[in-house]
Parts: sequence; C-alpha cells; structure tokens
Amino acid sequence: MPNVIVHQLEKRFDNGFHALKGVSVEIESGSFTVVLGPSGAGKSTLLRLINGLETPTHGHVDVAGQRVEPPSLRDIRGQVGMVFQHFNLVGRLSVMTNVLTGRLKDRSWLGSVLYLFRKQDMAIAHESLDRVGLTEKAWERADRLSGGEQQRVGIARALAQKPRLILADEPVASLDLVTSHEIMQLLREICERDGITLVVNLHQVDLAQRFAGRIIGLNAGEVVFDGTPAELDRASLTRIYQRKGVGNHDDQLESVLAYA
Ligand SMILES: Nc1ncnc2c1ncn2[C@@H]1O[C@H](COP(=O)(O)OP(=O)(O)O)[C@@H](O)[C@H]1O
Ligand SMILES: [Mg+2]
Repeated sequence: MPNVIVHQLEKRFDNGFHALKGVSVEIESGSFTVVLGPSGAGKSTLLRLINGLETPTHGHVDVAGQRVEPPSLRDIRGQVGMVFQHFNLVGRLSVMTNVLTGRLKDRSWLGSVLYLFRKQDMAIAHESLDRVGLTEKAWERADRLSGGEQQRVGIARALAQKPRLILADEPVASLDLVTSHEIMQLLREICERDGITLVVNLHQVDLAQRFAGRIIGLNAGEVVFDGTPAELDRASLTRIYQRKGVGNHDDQLESVLAYA
C-alpha cells in the first residue's frame, strides 16, 4: 500500500516562481526513496508540501490515506518525522531534552524545558537514543557534539515521534564524507529494520546510487527520472542535472556524468 500519494502537485510561490510543475508519485510503505536533483530543483518544496508546511497551488498529497490539509494536518504531522541539513537542535539543551521534543505534541515548549514529561515519553526517548547509538551522550549539551552526533540526535528526535514516515532534507549536506556514509547507513537501517518509510532529499549522485532503493530525479520542478540506482545512466543524469540556457560547457553536468 502506498504510504504517500503525490497527485499532480504544483507549487507557484507568491512571487510567481513555479517551483513544482505537476509532480505525481506514489511511495510505498517501508521503502527508501531518494529525491535527487540539483540545487533549486524543488526537492525541499516537495518535502514541505508532503508535510503540509506549504500549501499546493494545485493537486494534493495523501499520507497514510489522509489528505494533507486542515483539519488532518496536526494528526499527519504527528506521524511524520523531519530530519534537517542543519539538525535544528536547541544547542544549549541536553541531547535528551532535544529528543523529548519529538514527544511534545500537546505539551508546551516550556514544559519540555522543565522536564515535564511522562515516564513513557522518557522510555521512548531512551529507546530512540539507543537506536542511534548515543545513550552515553544523553545528558551532554547538544552543541558539544560533533556534526555526525548532532544529526544522530536529529534522527532520534524524529524516531521519538514513532513516525510512519521520515522526511530527511539533505541530511548529510553539512557532514564529511565518512560521516555522511554512516548517517545514510543508519537511515537505511531504520527503514529496513523498523519498517519506517524514508524519503531523503540529496544532491549527491554517488550517495543516491549507493543507498537508495528508488531514485526520483527532479529538475526544474518536474520528475525527469524514476527508477533504481542501476537504471541511473548517463542519459538520466543529463536529464536530472542539465540546466536550461547553458551551452555545451556545463561544468556541473560534466562532473555529475563522471558517476555514470
Ligand atoms: N518561499 C519562496 N518564494 C519564492 N521562491 C521560492 C520559495 N521557496 C523556494 N523558492 C524557489 O523555488 C525553487 C525550488 O526551491 P527548493 O525546493 O528549495 O529547491 P531544492 O531544495 O531542490 O534546492 C528555487 O528556485 C527557490 O529559489
Ligand atoms: Mg533544498
């Protein structure tokens, strides 16, 4: 059963910019999908529409059978964990408190600072930290951790929501190569072992080829590729990375084609 149905989705921003031009995709439950494309392709806009952070100009999104629109928004957001490029942690708070905010929902943010959490929330937060291998850092300040560790906290916070779906927007763009692989591996394991559907935005071809189950290629707001890493050939990469108005000397495209 598809977990996410994106139907003829269009987004035109107030300034007239047409960021998504009719995107239709279905994402199966428990799958690991990478949305691949150059900067500006519309990847973040797509994730934000799936999570209801932006409203479509046309078309719609269903998550787990529910239309992403009021009044279901709150319920849907509770089922969707988000992971960000810059982690979005509260640096001066402990790792544990950051993870507990994944359990917030109805509680106030002040409540989280004062540790007004139920025992059950604590147990789930511990479990989530254990899942990402950070139990020993639970009471350190979040900003004392390395980038890779901070992203693990971001993932633990998403897991603490007990989500059906995790949307990760360029989760390794701020990390070094080795750490990037570790984080991608962790996300892949979370998908395979915990049965959580993962949609990961990436701009790096090599990471998509190595970790994706399915790759959806976006260019200028349109799906220009949909297939497995093995199917991502030179022609597909050209469709994903070519820029309009650039002649025969497109350095970005040349560097990307080295992966084909
Ligand atoms: N709020 C906005 N208003 C106007 N244009 C926007 C807005 N948000 C994003 N865009 C534009 O939409 C395009 C797609 O953006 P984005 O989804 O962030 O791409 P990506 O994540 O693939 O880099 C970009 O050209 C960006 O400048
Ligand atoms: Mg983006």
